[in-house]
This record gives sequence, C-alpha cells and structure tokens, in this order.
Amino acid sequence: MDFRYAALTRENAQQWQSLRLEGTRDFPVGFLVTEQEAATTSLERAADILASGTTRGVFSGKVLTGFCGFRRSQLERLRHRAELGPFFVTARFQGSGAADVLMSGVIEEARTGGVEQLELFVDTENVRAIRFYQRFGFAQAARFIDSVRIDGRSHDDDFMTLRISG
Ligand SMILES: CC(C)(COP(=O)(O)OP(=O)(O)OC[C@H]1O[C@@H](n2cnc3c(N)ncnc32)[C@H](O)[C@@H]1OP(=O)(O)O)[C@@H](O)C(=O)NCCC(=O)NCCS
Repeated sequence: MDFRYAALTRENAQQWQSLRLEGTRDFPVGFLVTEQEAATTSLERAADILASGTTRGVFSGKVLTGFCGFRRSQLERLRHRAELGPFFVTARFQGSGAADVLMSGVIEEARTGGVEQLELFVDTENVRAIRFYQRFGFAQAARFIDSVRIDGRSHDDDFMTLRISG
C-alpha cells in the first residue's frame, strides 16, 4: 500500500481527534491520556496542539491512518534527544506497513535534524508495540515500576532508546 509521512497541521485536527478517541478507547495501554480526557479536547484545542508542530502522521491518500508525537528538547544540552509518543495506527491499518512508514519517517527526520537519540516509554505488557520498536532497533534502557495507573491498576513501563548516527 502507498503511505505518506507528514507533519500534522491545524487542518488535520478533525481526523487526528477521531483517531485519538479510537486509540484511547480501544488501546488504553498505548496512551497516557484517558478516553474521557481525550473526549473533552475541543476541536480548537486539538488544532492548537497540532499547530505546535510536535505531531507526525501517516496518510493513505487523504485519510489519516496513524500519528505519533515527536518532541525535541529546545534546551541546548538536550537537543540531541527527542521523545516519541503516543504512537498509534488505526486498527484497520495495523499490520499494513503504515506504522513502518510513520516510524521510518520519524527516524529520517530525526537523522537529518541532528537528533542522535530517540526515546519512548512503552507498557511492559504491550508485546506488539515492543516487538515493533525492537524491529527498528530500539532497546530497553530502563524499567519504570508503577509508571502508570490504568483504572486503578499499576502498570510498569520500559524506557526504550534508539541511537541514531548521522
Ligand atoms: C504498536 C503499533 C504502532 C505497531 O504497528 P503494527 O502495524 O501493528 O505493527 P506490526 O503488525 O508490524 O507488528 C509488530 C510486531 O508485533 C507482532 N505482532 C502482531 N500481532 C501481535 C500480537 N497480537 N501479539 C504479539 N505480537 C504481535 C508482529 O508479528 C510484528 O513482529 P515482527 O516485527 O517480529 O514481525 C500498532 O499495533 C498500534 O498502533 N497499536 C495500538 C497503540 C499502541 O499500543 N501504541 C504503542 C504505544 S507505546
């Protein structure tokens, strides 16, 4: 299938918001924000979030099929690092290669922008996501115990990093 990687802008707010609602509802371990919190985000607020330039997406034609946060630190001492997440592809397109295009796009953008380390947190029970990240070379750097509480249940996170060379 033909997928396109792009930075998301205000114009993508509606599609991004509906994917985010699907993700928080169906894949809660993949998000810090709850479904209820996502549901209270207005379209205007969603547009403002995208306008900050820290979200990337993958499209099939004009349809947004997935997105991820991509945040580079502005501090001089931390500018070699960038944080990924949340990372989500809509259920119909999981296993289709869309996630690969999104991750490859982020890695390439990081490389050309001089980022030398990508970082993310993933729930230790999220086996599919962990395998996906490992396939791209991410490795576990640390484990955060009691990182997130989902419906009152404690979850641990793996902190994973990918070193990028120019
Ligand atoms: C994580 C995600 C982006 C991966 O994209 P994807 O298109 O589903 O990825 P793939 O189909 O290539 O699967 C990744 C790996 O998991 C394996 N896999 C597939 N289904 C699986 C399952 N039910 N259990 C365990 N592993 C599974 C695949 O075989 C593949 O392994 P391989 O690289 O060794 O072949 C996507 O599944 C997603 O959006 N999940 C919901 C949100 C989420 O959890 N995001 C991560 C937050 S940190």
